[in-house]
Amino acid sequence: MVEKIKTGIPGLDDMMDGGLPKGSTTVISGPPGIGKSNLAMQYIYNGVSKYDDPGVYITVEDTVEDMENYAAGFGWNVREYEDAGKIAVLGREIFEGTDMDLGMDFGILRDVIKETQASRIVLDSVTLFNYLFKEESSRRIHMLRFLEMMRKNKCTTLMTAELPENFMKMRYGAEHFLSDGLIIMFWSRYRANNERCVWVVKIRGTKIVSDIRPVTITSEGVSISSKEVPFTLLKEDSVEK
Ligand SMILES: Nc1ncnc2c1ncn2[C@@H]1O[C@H](COP(=O)(O)OP(=O)(O)O)[C@@H](O)[C@H]1O
Ligand SMILES: [Mg+2]
Repeated sequence: MVEKIKTGIPGLDDMMDGGLPKGSTTVISGPPGIGKSNLAMQYIYNGVSKYDDPGVYITVEDTVEDMENYAAGFGWNVREYEDAGKIAVLGREIFEGTDMDLGMDFGILRDVIKETQASRIVLDSVTLFNYLFKEESSRRIHMLRFLEMMRKNKCTTLMTAELPENFMKMRYGAEHFLSDGLIIMFWSRYRANNERCVWVVKIRGTKIVSDIRPVTITSEGVSISSKEVPFTLLKEDSVEK
C-alpha cells in the first residue's frame, strides 16, 4: 500500500482514496483565477499546521510577498511558519543567473529542502521552465531533473499549469505526461452562472472518484463538496468552458 499524503482540503482527499501518493507529482491545471494557487498554498499550510509536514512553495508569476499576503487573506500565517523554518516561499529569481549551458542542478532549492526538511513542494507554476529555457528539449530535460529530485527526496509535489479554455480539445503539455497525477479545475457555465469545478483525471496507482464536483472559495480557503453535483452541469444546455 502506497503511503498517502493528505492535502487536508475539504472534499479533495476523498476523491483520491485518502490523498496524494507519497513522493508523487501531480499537476493542477486550470484557467487563471480558478483557485490553483490558493489550493496549492492551502496544501502547504495544512501540511505544517495539521500534519507537521514542512513545505516549500515556489512562486513564479506572483512575488513572494504577494503569496504571503494572499495566504494571510485566508487567515494562514505563512510568515510565522517561515520564521520557524517550517515553510519556505521562494521566488523565481533564485533560479536565475545559473549557467544554463552547463545545465542546472536546482542548487538553492536542494539546500532549502534540506534545511526545512520539506516533504511537500509546490511549483506554481510550470512556466518556470519557460522562463529559464528557450529550447523545448532543455525544458523537458530540466523538468525531468526537477521531478527526479522531488522523487529522490520523497517530496510530494503539486505543480500548477495554465489550461486553455477549450481544454477538451487541447494538446497536453510535457508536464501532463511526466507527472503521476492530473487534476483539472475549470469553469462551468449555465446562463449567467459561472461555477468552479474540479475533476481528478488521474492519480497513478490510486482509485479515484472521476465525477466532476463543485469547488467553492471562501474566507476559509478552497473546499470541494462531496455531496452535490455542479448545478450548472445539471442543466440540459450547460456548456463547459
Ligand atoms: N476570501 C475569498 N473568498 C472568495 N474568493 C476568494 C477569496 N480570496 C480569493 N478568492 C478568489 O480566488 C481567486 C484567485 O485564485 P488563485 O488561486 O489565485 O487562482 P489561479 O492561481 O488559478 O489563477 C480570485 O478569483 C478570488 O476571487
Ligand atoms: Mg495562480
